[in-house]
Amino acid sequence: MRDKITVIGSLNYDIVLKIPRLPECGETLPADDAAFSPGGKGANQAVQAAKLGVPVHMVGCVGTDGHGEVLLEAARKYGVDTAHVRRCKEPTGMGIINAMKDGSVFACIVRGANFAVTKEDIDGAKQILKESFLVILQMEIPQEINRYAIEKAKEAGCRVLLNAAPAEEIPLDYLKMCDIIVLNEVEAGFYLKTDVKNEEDARKGAALLAETCGADIIITLGKAGAVVSEDGKVTFIPSRRVEAIETTGAGDSFIGGVGYALQIGRSLTDACKFAACCSAVTVCRLGAQDSMPFLEEVMELEAE
Ligand code: RIB
Repeated sequence: MRDKITVIGSLNYDIVLKIPRLPECGETLPADDAAFSPGGKGANQAVQAAKLGVPVHMVGCVGTDGHGEVLLEAARKYGVDTAHVRRCKEPTGMGIINAMKDGSVFACIVRGANFAVTKEDIDGAKQILKESFLVILQMEIPQEINRYAIEKAKEAGCRVLLNAAPAEEIPLDYLKMCDIIVLNEVEAGFYLKTDVKNEEDARKGAALLAETCGADIIITLGKAGAVVSEDGKVTFIPSRRVEAIETTGAGDSFIGGVGYALQIGRSLTDACKFAACCSAVTVCRLGAQDSMPFLEEVMELEAE
């Protein structure tokens, strides 16, 4: 049975700064608090799916430094198989996350080892692709490697979910190879070349992208909810009302949740309802992977 998910993507060592506001140019602003946490969109998505009980393989690169060790240990602790994460001479990728009091975040990444992923790394994962029903990718490894990975995943018969984040110009034929494309409102605005600020913008944008790319589309809108276009039918998924502490990894939690729900046979639209419960739990705690819920917590929230 093909019940696995393979995540091909980034692993980052995140430094999360709790700040009262963004500093002015030339100003040194004391942070209220700081925390280190395992992150990277790829690793976060892998960890969320694994915490929900899916067998997950991660393909990527970390450095031979201490940060790389921390990230591998964290992913393994939550059940992710890291046999295809290569240690390389480049330093481990980093995320610098400025987290505001209302939970919103301003983030930068240092690519580091994530940009050392090669076609050989993808070839090395050939067997696990054959065992996977879903391959999840983001845009934190080189675009040409992502493209190669998508081609190999399709050849192996996998469904492909691309989280096209961070946003960058992508050739249309590349997007057309994907089955599901996930964006937040900022990324959707980039690809659509227009503001995506509310449910109506997201509905229109999802319909347009679905038609252009021939894929199912999910646009997440933070606390406002999400819009999903599945087989051309557009549905709004409201978010769960919670007191957000910090939102790093909320989108990744959503994607890991979608992966789990698809694995148990739910439709994509229904999977998004489950995923909204995953991210609702994640935003109530600090950091990305450690704050993501296990299955029981999500099921309890979904039943409410
Ligand atoms: O999506 C959140 C993640 O984006 C962070 O963990 C950071 O490392 C960046 O990859």
